[in-house]
Amino acid sequence: MSNKPKVLVTCRWPSAVEKRLVENYDVTMCDARVPISQSGFREAFSRFDAILPTVTDKITDEAFQLSNPTTKIVGNFGVGYSHINTDAAKAANIMVTNTPDVLSDCTADLTLTLMLMAARRAGEGERELRQGQWRGWQPTHLLGTRMTGKTLGIIGFGRIGQEVAKRAHYGFGMKVVFYNRSAINPEITIKTNAMQVSSVDELLKRSDFVSLHCPGGDGNKHMIGREQLELMKNDAFLINTARGEVIDEPALVDALKSNKIAGAGLDVFDGEPNISKEFFDCENAVLLPHLGSATRETREAMGFRVLDNLSDFFAGREPKDRVA
Ligand code: DGY
Repeated sequence: MSNKPKVLVTCRWPSAVEKRLVENYDVTMCDARVPISQSGFREAFSRFDAILPTVTDKITDEAFQLSNPTTKIVGNFGVGYSHINTDAAKAANIMVTNTPDVLSDCTADLTLTLMLMAARRAGEGERELRQGQWRGWQPTHLLGTRMTGKTLGIIGFGRIGQEVAKRAHYGFGMKVVFYNRSAINPEITIKTNAMQVSSVDELLKRSDFVSLHCPGGDGNKHMIGREQLELMKNDAFLINTARGEVIDEPALVDALKSNKIAGAGLDVFDGEPNISKEFFDCENAVLLPHLGSATRETREAMGFRVLDNLSDFFAGREPKDRVA
């Protein structure tokens, strides 16, 4: 019998991280193709010392309905944790941690990728070429929108939002406006000459690109709906690398199909990986399969960050990334 803490991992991780994990813990790895049910998580909470889920594992109130769980920590592989009911976790006396900071650069890079792809019609161009439809260079072929010098509106000016601002300001000379619930220290905003506006509506009216960097969950569900899309400029683009539920997707499909806005770049979807087929009919939408943090360097760093939180916890120290 091993004396190491018993840990359940819900899917495979980068091998360098798994190697370290098995050195220090008694690890059970799940097959990610079979999602764990709420009763499955509840059962796991009575067998393992730690559960390590990722952003696709929904853990609701129902899963936490047990007395005296064996599990004392849920170490999420990912920064967003709206898929975990943290109130229920607290009530069950189970700590929750996440993995901030280490994915800010790569998620910001992917945001700029989506902005450029949408504005420069890169997806349309690639589809045309692969389908053998390209007829050669022409002065009016697939004309897009210039990004340099435009106004970028950022909703949620946390770590990722600030990295996006840097890239847009220094790389593309963009003006940055942002909406954030709390006031942001001028020492931070001065770095990108960014201006805080007092409402989402004001930001939507002013921006040529709107990029979402707020948390998901009920609090921000459908923050961008029909009314908000109405406020955007007709030649503006909406970018989402945050969470799918922040956008009312049927409203966005209508806005894209009627050219109410110029286009969208989406890395996240409500109910992913089952995405609304309606998006496939929107040539002006760039669609990526939740790749924000998907680089080898970042995914390893995320895994090691979970391990740091675990080792702190089992050594009796407060984990750095405790969120509940
Ligand atoms: C996260 O960590 O929340 C991201 O969405 C994963 O890329």
